[in-house]
Amino acid sequence: MDIVQALNWRYAAKRMTGQTIPADKLNTILESIRLSASSVGLQPYTVFVVSSQEMRGKIREMACKQPQVTESSHFLVFTVNENITEAYIDYMIGLTASTRNVGMDTLADFQTNIKKMLLSRSVEENFDWAARQSYIALGYGLVAAAVEGVDSTPMEGFDHAAMDEVLGLKQHGLKSVVALALGYRDEQNDYLVKATKVRKPADSFFVTF
Ligand SMILES: Cc1cc2nc3c(=O)[nH]c(=O)nc-3n(C[C@H](O)[C@H](O)[C@H](O)COP(=O)(O)O)c2cc1C
Repeated sequence: MDIVQALNWRYAAKRMTGQTIPADKLNTILESIRLSASSVGLQPYTVFVVSSQEMRGKIREMACKQPQVTESSHFLVFTVNENITEAYIDYMIGLTASTRNVGMDTLADFQTNIKKMLLSRSVEENFDWAARQSYIALGYGLVAAAVEGVDSTPMEGFDHAAMDEVLGLKQHGLKSVVALALGYRDEQNDYLVKATKVRKPADSFFVTF
């Protein structure tokens, strides 16, 4: 499948079979998410990979009982930093220096500018910014899953406070934003399995000059 075929093949599955995704495919999807672009490279998100059936049972209860939560193979929860701290910025700049084997001094201006930009904003503004970054990572996951022939459902339909509680996110300084169920479509029981994809036509979607 080329990428457009894969994106036409994918849809947000409402029912899945419970079949497990092979480790190599799961790793490709997770690695694609990790490789997502993020503003100033700060990756202000952490992805929880939930395979425990017990944990997914709890999550389903707080996700309007959506079947994909327990019928998926793996359930990913995208969480973001509750607050962007100076220590976090320093950590990421340090990671850049060590990964690229350059001195911290070469990154000093960049570090100062990032701090000026982010530390002058409110916690809420930074949370919204971080959440937007996590949606880009979600998009990478959706596309990677499609290319790998793995079904997925992006999900916002859950009680965020309850999710934070059950995953113990507060103690990590994180908050849940969005989720991605990964697995295999249940052809027999998913009413959407043969539904034609609905998208705005290209001639009104794109504006060209
Ligand atoms: C951020 C986001 C949140 C979504 N939340 C849910 C959800 O909680 N449950 C669900 O069944 N589908 C959810 N969807 C799926 C959308 O309804 C679906 O992507 C849209 O109708 C387009 O259809 P398609 O993805 O099947 O092509 C969500 C999609 C996105 C991008």
